[in-house]
Amino acid sequence: MGRIFSGVQPTGNLHLGNYLGAIRNWVRLQHSFECLFCIVDLHAITVWQDPAELRKSTREVAAGLLAAGIDPARNVVFHQSSVPGHAQLAWVFNCVARLGWLNRMTQFKEKAGKDRENASVGLYAYPNLMAADILLYKATHVPVGEDQKQHLELARDIAQKFNNDFGVGTFPVPEPLILGPAARVMSLRDGTRKMSKSDPSDYSRINMTDDADAIALKVRKAKTDPEPLPDTLAGLDARPEAANLVGLYAALLDLDREGALTRVAGRPFSEFKVELTDVAVSVLGPINAEMKRLAADPAHVDAVLREGGERARALAAPVLDEVFEVVGFLKT
Ligand code: TYM
Repeated sequence: MGRIFSGVQPTGNLHLGNYLGAIRNWVRLQHSFECLFCIVDLHAITVWQDPAELRKSTREVAAGLLAAGIDPARNVVFHQSSVPGHAQLAWVFNCVARLGWLNRMTQFKEKAGKDRENASVGLYAYPNLMAADILLYKATHVPVGEDQKQHLELARDIAQKFNNDFGVGTFPVPEPLILGPAARVMSLRDGTRKMSKSDPSDYSRINMTDDADAIALKVRKAKTDPEPLPDTLAGLDARPEAANLVGLYAALLDLDREGALTRVAGRPFSEFKVELTDVAVSVLGPINAEMKRLAADPAHVDAVLREGGERARALAAPVLDEVFEVVGFLKT
């Protein structure tokens, strides 16, 4: 059995991209792997976070994971800042990774935008921390959405360079698991941009906390084109919004894109959107209700995270000891 590590940032609402691209896969994988699922608050502060909001979001995201079906008894569910080893190993990796490697990271370029000089050093070094998250537990598999692929490649490079530099086999080279027809969910307002927590328009995403009315409204307002749905996948090629909605529909119904398309080929968007709404509400409704219940019981959520933190620290300690020994830090 391999070991899984994956993480999610506590920065605003979880959305359908997080759910279909990552969290739902975690729920499924928990039966065949030993898993750690982490709410990555150290990553969140690479851009400004209001402290009270950050605390609230951390609990909310934890509630979202539990509501989606992650079992905290079977898996380690915790928040990153409760395990000091993440930051400690990240420092070692800051000294392993090369500037040239980080300069190639497209997410930094997107997030820093034009005002690069004003971005935090943390935002730049973020992929090294992500590598530390995974390798602190010697995780072998990392289920993520497609947007994290480049960061995962960097984590693989870091594992290999560390092993080569010191002539050891300390780290496994972790495998990305990018699964399903919704590994890259796009904005409902622009089929060429990723659905994201940081999009200023709430109409661009379906949040895991949205109720049926909000979902219906957002799907109704979703950008489309005037043509009915095609009957082949090739017919979606130059139609990013249509392709995105079909991908969502497929993922929500657990079909592949082709199977989903045969159900709706030839329909106008007005009809397809009603069906998409029904499917989204039936999948998200129960999760939404459970998130509300957990929101009213923060002590329970805190207890889950506390216990997860303890278990994570115990798993991390021997790996960090091994790394310090390999690097040549004196043990006194
Ligand atoms: P984050 O918080 O942006 O997203 C959490 C997970 O959701 C996936 N995701 C998407 N999948 C499909 N379509 C989308 N529009 C979409 N938006 C987000 C992400 O790919 C991710 O799997 N750096 C990571 C968190 C992280 C991490 C890690 C992940 C920190 N350390 C170690 C894996 C292993 C991030 O910002 O994810």
